Amino acid sequence: MNEIVKKAKIAEDVFDFWIHSPSVSKEAGPGQFVVIRLHEKGERIPLTVADTRPEKGLFRMVVKVVGKTTHELSLKKEGDTILDVVGPLGNPSEIKNYGNVLLVGGGVGIATLYPIAKALKNVGNNITTVLGARTKDYLIMVDEFKKISDVLLVTDDGSAGMKGVVTDAMDKLFRERKFDICWAVGPTIMMKFCTLKAREFGVPIWVSLNPIMVDGTGMCGACRVTVSGQIKFACVDGPEFRGEEVDWDELLKRLAQYREQEKISYERFLRAAGESE
Ligand SMILES: Cc1cc2nc3c(=O)[nH]c(=O)nc-3n(C[C@H](O)[C@H](O)[C@H](O)COP(=O)(O)OP(=O)(O)OC[C@H]3O[C@@H](n4cnc5c(N)ncnc54)[C@H](O)[C@@H]3O)c2cc1C
Ligand code: FES
Repeated sequence: MNEIVKKAKIAEDVFDFWIHSPSVSKEAGPGQFVVIRLHEKGERIPLTVADTRPEKGLFRMVVKVVGKTTHELSLKKEGDTILDVVGPLGNPSEIKNYGNVLLVGGGVGIATLYPIAKALKNVGNNITTVLGARTKDYLIMVDEFKKISDVLLVTDDGSAGMKGVVTDAMDKLFRERKFDICWAVGPTIMMKFCTLKAREFGVPIWVSLNPIMVDGTGMCGACRVTVSGQIKFACVDGPEFRGEEVDWDELLKRLAQYREQEKISYERFLRAAGESE
């Protein structure tokens, strides 16, 4: 159970895993996630179910190395197992035929967007996707998106597609055609500015929030966010919410609250890994 059946590096610091878990692969819908724990002493981290192959009992996780646990996961090899995989958790995306849909993905958020894009395509939407990253070396899953949508690439340095940020591409597209709804998934600051851009053009927007999570089942309160002035838990009430209703500044503040501890823990892990080599 939970065996890593396939692993590949698909971009700078980004790894693509296929995991054997028949229940997750059978049950997971677009927008849902799992909480994993690598070993007895490991912390729990949430990761999106980026794709499934129910006939083989496999599901996919695309992971960016940002700290201790994601680094530890990136060192795992095919044939290794993950101690715990809990899920699918959270609510599936609201999939229906909206008409013209704009999807905006930044960094590893592109992986979260992929099952949403496939499901929206399956029910007949016309999809346009903006995929953004720092440079072309950080862009992921471009060919997969090209099979199901029109794709516009954006990089900070212009090394692939348009030079700029994803909101520049949104601005261009919103001026050219009418969109009925949009989704933005990526770093919190990106989703905040995508929300402002969508609001400027009167287009409704879904976002997938990534607050710190621990249990993923609504009990610990770690993932508390304010939406429409009400307290919500992203793990059970989300992770997708309407961007116009999110208190972005509170979320950005909460995300930074353990930065010092995260840094210490990562440095300690890297020192120990270096010593054991
Ligand atoms: C619903 C959801 C789905 C996600 N899906 C993916 C995915 O598909 N691929 C991917 O690469 N990342 C995903 N993330 C983010 C991922 O969980 C964090 O990058 C990971 O927990 C970082 O752990 P770390 O020990 O490597 O780094 P840390 O040093 O712990 O943290 C580095 C950064 O990650 C954030 N973070 C830390 N702990 C958590 C936590 N328990 N939950 C959420 N964020 C945390 C911190 O705010 C910090 O900015 C998702 C997060 C959520 C909430
Ligand atoms: S992660 Fe504990 S309540 Fe959401």
